[in-house]
Amino acid sequence: MHESGKTICIIEGDGVGKEVIPAAVEVLKSVLPETRFIWAEAGWECFQKHGTSVPQATLQAIRSCGAALFGAVSSPAHKVEGYRSAIITMRQELDLYANIRPVRSLPKVSTRQDVDLVIVRENTEGLYAGREHLESGAFLGETAIAERVITRNASRRIALRALEVLRLMGKNRLTIVHKANILPITDGLFRDTVQASIKAARHPEETFSVDELLVDTAAYKLVSQPEKIEVMVTTNLFGDILSDCASHWCGGMGLAPSLNWGEQAAIAEPVHGSAPDIAGKGIANPIAAILSTAMLVRYVWKQNDVAERIENAVRQALEEDIPSENGQISSSTDGLTELITQAILNHL
Ligand code: NAI
Ligand code: MG
Repeated sequence: MHESGKTICIIEGDGVGKEVIPAAVEVLKSVLPETRFIWAEAGWECFQKHGTSVPQATLQAIRSCGAALFGAVSSPAHKVEGYRSAIITMRQELDLYANIRPVRSLPKVSTRQDVDLVIVRENTEGLYAGREHLESGAFLGETAIAERVITRNASRRIALRALEVLRLMGKNRLTIVHKANILPITDGLFRDTVQASIKAARHPEETFSVDELLVDTAAYKLVSQPEKIEVMVTTNLFGDILSDCASHWCGGMGLAPSLNWGEQAAIAEPVHGSAPDIAGKGIANPIAAILSTAMLVRYVWKQNDVAERIENAVRQALEEDIPSENGQISSSTDGLTELITQAILNHL
């Protein structure tokens, strides 16, 4: 028996978040019936109601559970005074410094069947440090500058997270992705710190290899030979772009999971947004949200066997319900969720 009674904070957010998160909750209940749930609010609707996209009560609920499942938020098309992106706020407030993005082939829906890689993205600094300004002086308004912040501390902790992912997934190669030929000071610090941290932390009996790729070569390889990649670790913007690009191989936005993972808390979230074009129709694919839940169970709750049960049930359900292009499903959110929970119960 597993230790029982974990508590998780559930934040549906906007749009299809309200459809896919209840589906993931159903699946979690079927694998871990003792789980307790606390509901909290965040997002655009929440902002319109309470004047903040992430109320303090929500941050408090996530902190107290240490684990949250988050759907998606809508962002206003134009700048709205006082509005801040909910997910960026939660990442910063809770110091969720690692973004884990697995890309795995799924039966029928994926364009190829041999992809099984993980991108580990630094989630707090780099070009997302928010240090932008216009240059002053004679050319005021003509030149805009963004500072890219790389610290030894953030590089070390993302390296250790990548090592943890590599170990948990039984992988054999870690690839450090950077652009140190053009950015020798910042990306030099990132690369050297990752290398040194892995060297210091690896056990003598571990046989995995560590190599490196320039980010442009890494992009080419993710497209041309994704089956050769196991775990990549990289800085914030590179990881953002590479992971969205790689998620093509899993078969569409409705299928790509992720985990924001810090020391004190973690938030699992499907990669997709609030999908206003399909919201409210009951046809959103719940698989990205369900696979995100499996990540939380694996990485945060350390129950790898339970995570595998969820993933196997998803694979089995896909054999029965074939999503079409962009991960859209042939039946309904409820229909596919039912197939997945049935597959879980049949294997108990
Ligand atoms: P999106 O991810 O919401 O939708 C892109 C396409 O994927 C659409 O065709 C949509 O129908 C489809 N799709 C998304 N989720 C799906 C699912 N579960 N099943 C089937 N198909 C699905 O991205 P878009 O349209 O660029 O943005 C819509 C809103 O979401 C915007 O307000 C944007 O700011 C927000 N957004 C929020 C994110 C988050 O909360 N992390 C991430 C990306 C966008
Ligand atoms: Mg992105």
